Amino acid sequence: MEKVSEIVSVFRDTFFVGKFTNTERLVNRMIHTNSLTKKYDNGFVAVNDLNIQVQKGDIYGYLGPNGAGKTTTIRMLNGLLQPTRGEVLIGNRKVADHLVEIRKMIGVLPESHGYYNWMSGREYLTLFAKLYGYDKSKLKNRVDEVLTWVGMIEKAHIPIGQYSRGMKQRIGLAKTIIHEPELIFLDEPTLGLDPQGQKDIQNIILQLNKEKGVTVFITSHLLKDISEICNRVAIVSQGNLIEENSLVGLLEKYKSLSETGEVTLEDIFFYLTQSKEVKSQ
Ligand SMILES: Nc1ncnc2c1ncn2[C@@H]1O[C@H](COP(=O)(O)OP(=O)(O)O)[C@@H](O)[C@H]1O
Ligand SMILES: [Mg+2]
Repeated sequence: MEKVSEIVSVFRDTFFVGKFTNTERLVNRMIHTNSLTKKYDNGFVAVNDLNIQVQKGDIYGYLGPNGAGKTTTIRMLNGLLQPTRGEVLIGNRKVADHLVEIRKMIGVLPESHGYYNWMSGREYLTLFAKLYGYDKSKLKNRVDEVLTWVGMIEKAHIPIGQYSRGMKQRIGLAKTIIHEPELIFLDEPTLGLDPQGQKDIQNIILQLNKEKGVTVFITSHLLKDISEICNRVAIVSQGNLIEENSLVGLLEKYKSLSETGEVTLEDIFFYLTQSKEVKSQ
């Protein structure tokens, strides 16, 4: 597997994020949260005062261990869960006030999702394309297009119940992008996949971003996993944002953690969470 530093050097040239002026940041803003907080009914604060900005064209990695509040955050970002406090803006519109329009421009791949196992991949995608209003003349083309994107065109006739987990995730991704959203939310899309399956999903996401300009908000509890395709990452722990930066900036900022300068996100995570515990003692 290529080293993060090699991939980073490719992305340094590809992405211009980080060089925006303040006005450009506003124009290019895709997601913006103000003090976003979720306290569940039992009193547990799963997300605490979150302020993040995702720019158009980002692959934004929202990384943290199990229980960090990633799924809670993603559900608030796409309007499925009401925040206790704070707000989410997508584009420059408040999600709470513009749910219908926003749903059309976003795609969501939830952490766990049910498939209709008796349907073939093609039938499943055709169903969603119809729900999104594609008429007969465009329907087959669009379904073929997304099946090709996710590398499933040859397996499209097989019932989903017979697919491997990796194939199901590809079909899940295809469903997420069927209506040509500008922004997609992927909650742990590589969970439970073998290394090849993880790479395949990463490559599809990269291609969508580079060739179709789709902005991606992606979570993972494995810090290393998807960070390699992200240009910007947030590290979260116990409901709190503990660091947010471009991947390049983060690795540079903490390079002194390793004598060789080859610092990993895991090193940074452990350093930040440990030093926080020490500070709070
Ligand atoms: N409906 C709920 N009621 C109470 N606590 C919840 C609920 N849903 C999630 N939690 C808790 O909130 C925390 C964050 O959960 P979650 O957002 O699923 O984290 P992650 O996706 O990072 O694993 C966990 O401790 C979880 O147990
Ligand atoms: Mg989760």
